[in-house]
Amino acid sequence: MKREILEILRERKDFVSGEELCRKFGVSRTAVWKAVRSLTEEGYQIEAVRSKGYRLIESADVLSEESVRRELTARWTGRVLEVYDEIGSTNDRVRELGEAGAPEGTLVAANHQTAGKGRRGRVWQTPAGTALAFSLLLRPQIPPERVSMLTLAAAVAVRRGIEKASGLACRIKWPNDIVHDGKKICGILTELSAEMEQVRFCIVGIGINVTVQSFPPELSDKAASILTETGRAVSRSVLLGDILTAFEEIYADVVRTQDLSSLIPEYEQNMAGIGEPVVIEDPQHRRQAECQGISPLGAMRVKNPDGTEENIISGEVSVRGLYRYI
Ligand code: BTN
Repeated sequence: MKREILEILRERKDFVSGEELCRKFGVSRTAVWKAVRSLTEEGYQIEAVRSKGYRLIESADVLSEESVRRELTARWTGRVLEVYDEIGSTNDRVRELGEAGAPEGTLVAANHQTAGKGRRGRVWQTPAGTALAFSLLLRPQIPPERVSMLTLAAAVAVRRGIEKASGLACRIKWPNDIVHDGKKICGILTELSAEMEQVRFCIVGIGINVTVQSFPPELSDKAASILTETGRAVSRSVLLGDILTAFEEIYADVVRTQDLSSLIPEYEQNMAGIGEPVVIEDPQHRRQAECQGISPLGAMRVKNPDGTEENIISGEVSVRGLYRYI
């Protein structure tokens, strides 16, 4: 009944009396009031006026199961869907579902994470109402050592989705950060559950700053949101729908070819720092090379000062731009 009340309020765009809703659903005024209260708890702003009834104010960017389903155009991702107002980490929830045998494409999204995880053990902040955090369960038929390719594939999908939903043309900072003007808008954390030679499942977790406007001082010159870069707010559900649609197309190609060959042109076209000097750092050395693009398995191709070419593998070293963050 709650969803039907929401639909009625959305279509009518004006007050709907409590009495009308009671009659339509054959329930008491208290039951209608409880359904409306539960919608407001999800984040919908509903005005209640004694003599007039209820009216939906469509201003808040609600992230609920209903809003996500409404914007979902993808075929198989998000069929099994959980949307939380608050959760520790969507990656952790997907891991539980994966262990319990949930199907490929299971999606967990959240309005707010209290224990969001970043790469290299860092914390990932997901402020309530202004960021999008979601994780996807995948069961790819690829060797475990190739799973890191999926992070690059996800980065291409996120970049495409952000451009479609907001018009913002971001770039990809190898391997998988989405940046604009040198500032990070999105991070991706891929986790794996595998046996010796077989992937049981993997979790692709994506965090996007959508309408975040203030960042902690240590991030203020390194982080941005779609709103800070475009001046416009975009619906998180629309954005999620666009990313999933792009991801399905990209993922099908990656699993078919078992590499990123079909994605290389799009990745390199949007790669931050391509053709520019990069600093490669491992615990012993710090050296300079020129970024040339990516290999079919997702390594960064670089040219050394002596003209030799080399593939740099993510995780083994850190790479940054010589002149700026990217
Ligand atoms: C990074 O450090 O750049 C990766 C950040 C990944 C954050 C996302 S938010 C959704 C998912 N759940 C988590 O706990 N982390 C990922």
